[in-house]
Amino acid sequence: MKLMCSLHVFHFLLLCATQTSGVKIDSAPDINGEGLIVTGVNQTVSLLCQAGTDEELVWLRNGARIALKGGNNTRNSSVCVTPVILEDNGATFTCQMKKNASVSASVTLDVIFPPLLSGSAEVLVEELEALVLQCDIWSNPPVSSVTWTQNGSSLDLTAGGFTATTDGFTAQLISNSAERSLHQGAYQCTAKTPKNEIFSKIFNVIVTDKTLKFPLMPIIAGVVVVFLTSILAVLARWHKIRKCCK
Ligand SMILES: *[C@@H]1O[C@H](CO)[C@@H](O)[C@H](O)[C@H]1NC(C)=O
Ligand SMILES: *[C@@H]1O[C@H](CO)[C@@H](O)[C@H](O)[C@H]1NC(C)=O
Ligand SMILES: *[C@@H]1O[C@H](CO)[C@@H](O)[C@H](O)[C@H]1NC(C)=O
Repeated sequence: MKLMCSLHVFHFLLLCATQTSGVKIDSAPDINGEGLIVTGVNQTVSLLCQAGTDEELVWLRNGARIALKGGNNTRNSSVCVTPVILEDNGATFTCQMKKNASVSASVTLDVIFPPLLSGSAEVLVEELEALVLQCDIWSNPPVSSVTWTQNGSSLDLTAGGFTATTDGFTAQLISNSAERSLHQGAYQCTAKTPKNEIFSKIFNVIVTDKTLKFPLMPIIAGVVVVFLTSILAVLARWHKIRKCCK
């Protein structure tokens, strides 16, 4: 019994010892329960790494060493991410002991940003050509839905021969062959975020008459004929000149 108690105490002391010789990251804003720091574009995140020893510390961003000023690499080492950019979303910052990389702590940034979806655009499409409308829906967190309307009412995909796709970055509405009676009009794509914020973009689609494609072959044939005719003319002339000289 007594032995067991002392074993417990011994184990506890061991835990304390490994913790004090480890490293710990504090941050503003705080690290949430999932080890993420939630922030936004253009904000500032300060990270502080604390170590219980005088061993030299290094910071890594996605595995690449961050240059630290002298004096900022033992016991309390801080790194400031300012301004936060889109590319920092999902970036992992790690503080570790230079001599022993297994003594480390990491945090990951979760950069919240809305979809870049606004305004309106004019789209000209020639009759029988493909009509392609694209909306940038990339955001964090991802949008929860994307809907399309035509002239203010919900879009009938089948009637217009449309396919609607989305890959998390771009939502597309495609019809392989534009027809004025079916496709001319105002379209709107609307993305809704998990917090029910709405972002949308309008497209004014005008279906233009089919133009005749530039007739390339007849032009080439014409150029060849003109070229041959002039050569023949020169030859004929040459013949005359030679005749006269004889
Ligand atoms: C971030 O700052 C830049 C430069 O000041 C500005 O152009 C941009 O609109 C800002 N972005 C956000 C999302 O606040
Ligand atoms: C590195 O640190 C770990 C955890 O504290 C320890 O178990 C290991 O022995 C150390 N390795 C070296 C080479 O010091
Ligand atoms: C949408 O409205 C415009 C303008 O009122 C009209 O010219 C067009 O035919 C309509 N499009 C469809 C597909 O109903």
